[in-house]
Amino acid sequence: MRDLSLHLMDILQNSITAKASKIEVKISADQVSDDIIFTVSDNGTGMDEDFLKQVTSPFTTTRTTRKIGLGVPLFKEAAELAGGTFEIYSAKNQGTTVKATFKISHLDRLPLGDITETMVGVILSKPETQWVLQLSNKKDEFSFDSYEVIDKLGGVPITEYEVITWVKEYIDEGIKFIFGGVLHEIIS
Ligand SMILES: Nc1ncnc2c1ncn2[C@@H]1O[C@H](COP(=O)(O)OP(=O)(O)OP(=O)(O)O)[C@@H](O)[C@H]1O
Ligand SMILES: [Mg+2]
Repeated sequence: MRDLSLHLMDILQNSITAKASKIEVKISADQVSDDIIFTVSDNGTGMDEDFLKQVTSPFTTTRTTRKIGLGVPLFKEAAELAGGTFEIYSAKNQGTTVKATFKISHLDRLPLGDITETMVGVILSKPETQWVLQLSNKKDEFSFDSYEVIDKLGGVPITEYEVITWVKEYIDEGIKFIFGGVLHEIIS
């Protein structure tokens, strides 16, 4: 996979498939410890303990169309190749949290990619889901909550061109504000 935003897209697809009504993405970077941490939490169907133990194997999937599932194992591999760690927590009928850490300056750390495109893509595909994005860099924080936007829209759909264009610009600015100068690939 080319970048972290594409991995994120896969992990968010899992949360959508798990019928989550609220999906939260947190990305925090700490230049001092050299860590960037991705946390995705959902309130979807979750997994039981036995299934969870095998979920990082490519041969674990509830897909019926093919026998291997790669979203989770590939994200784990990307983290570990970049000197990071991977954890997944889940409880049946409660939800799932995926946490991946990467060493920012590691040569094999994938670039962030287009996080805005990933978020706008999932919002457009599931506008009824509550999408939360929190970014931080130890000094500053940024947050976006699709339900806060919807509340202020007085019935105009979030998928409306002008609205989603605003969302896109808002998240783009957040990424630049929080990660500009912190991740070399983001120009502030
Ligand atoms: N957030 C989640 N909530 C509930 N179950 C999950 C979640 N994430 C993963 N799973 C379970 O783990 C399995 C493996 O996930 P993984 O992303 O690795 O593969 P996949 O989604 O089956 O296929 P692919 O990602 O390659 O399209 C899924 O089939 C699903 O059963
Ligand atoms: Mg998947």
